[in-house]
Amino acid sequence: MHGSVNKAAQDDVKQDGAAGSADALAFSRYGDEVFSRVQARFPTASTRRLAIAQPLAAQRFEALQTAVRTYISACLGSRETLSEAQVCAGLLRAREQGKLHNYTPGGMLVPKREHTLEWNALHRAMSAVFEDYDLDGVIDGIDLPINVRLVFGDTGKGKLAPFSSAKLHSDVWAGVPHDAVVCVLPVLGDIENLTIVMGEMKPELEMGSMRAMDDYEDGRGIKVDVPYREVVLEHGTLYMADCRLLHCTARRKREGVRVSIDFRFRMKEPAYRAMVPEIVGPESVDTRVPYDTWLNVGKDRMFVCDETMEEAAKTRHLVNSLPVYNGPYRIVPLFPGVPGGGRGAGEFKPKLVGAAE
Ligand SMILES: [Fe+2]
Repeated sequence: MHGSVNKAAQDDVKQDGAAGSADALAFSRYGDEVFSRVQARFPTASTRRLAIAQPLAAQRFEALQTAVRTYISACLGSRETLSEAQVCAGLLRAREQGKLHNYTPGGMLVPKREHTLEWNALHRAMSAVFEDYDLDGVIDGIDLPINVRLVFGDTGKGKLAPFSSAKLHSDVWAGVPHDAVVCVLPVLGDIENLTIVMGEMKPELEMGSMRAMDDYEDGRGIKVDVPYREVVLEHGTLYMADCRLLHCTARRKREGVRVSIDFRFRMKEPAYRAMVPEIVGPESVDTRVPYDTWLNVGKDRMFVCDETMEEAAKTRHLVNSLPVYNGPYRIVPLFPGVPGGGRGAGEFKPKLVGAAE
């Protein structure tokens, strides 16, 4: 269906080898074409060239919000599911008291042994959202686990880290592949004041800026040309961005917290992937699993981390500042050998830190 457009874009690139800007525009057009295939799978979404905003059905979001509250309540050691206000207050208090042992320097609240059921239910609520759309043909691997992200208003004083999300950036600059789509779903807390602002750079700059940097500051010459002012993040809307989109965290208050879910998938288009040399940076770590595996976590398999909260308190200093989880986990089949269960234990390989595929 899209073959002729792709072909034209690729031919442009070949023929204009000497003319950098024509190359760059062909890359940009091809990227738009590939991303538009993802956009087409969300027919009720609002879209901009590099972004998609899909409001979730009320019952889907309600289920997700409850699952996130239940998960965080477990992380806070509560025996019941806390309200949104209690969750936010509990997170602020636990952080203050140094008790949020599963909160990583990368900003994620990662599951430990005590949170196994709650985390799997949360994943299941998220995968149920994706199941509503026909994404099989466009997703080539998707992050596992999905990340529960906490953004606190009060970041302390210190200097911003090289890859601080408070600096304007494309995720590619930290090593994320250019064909990744970043998904963010705000769930709880102060999304009005702890938000994300975004916009496009000039299309002709995109190709040249698909490279890793040592610090987001190195990209400060790349400005927002088309701001997405009307894209104002709200709870219950799933935002998906092409990696070429410039964005940063905006803190309008130095207090409070917001909770969102984020993860990435890569688009299925080898020719587009091949247009940029492989990008290597701190965020190049690949945490993808096949889409089918991801969809079935919480259904016929469980995502399990062996480490307990008590152990996490002792190993905190070992945790890296990556914004994705690349620690050890196991995928445990629930119905091995059961007729109709369909999957044997052999399918599931444990994932270990730093292990090559
Ligand atoms: Fe980012």
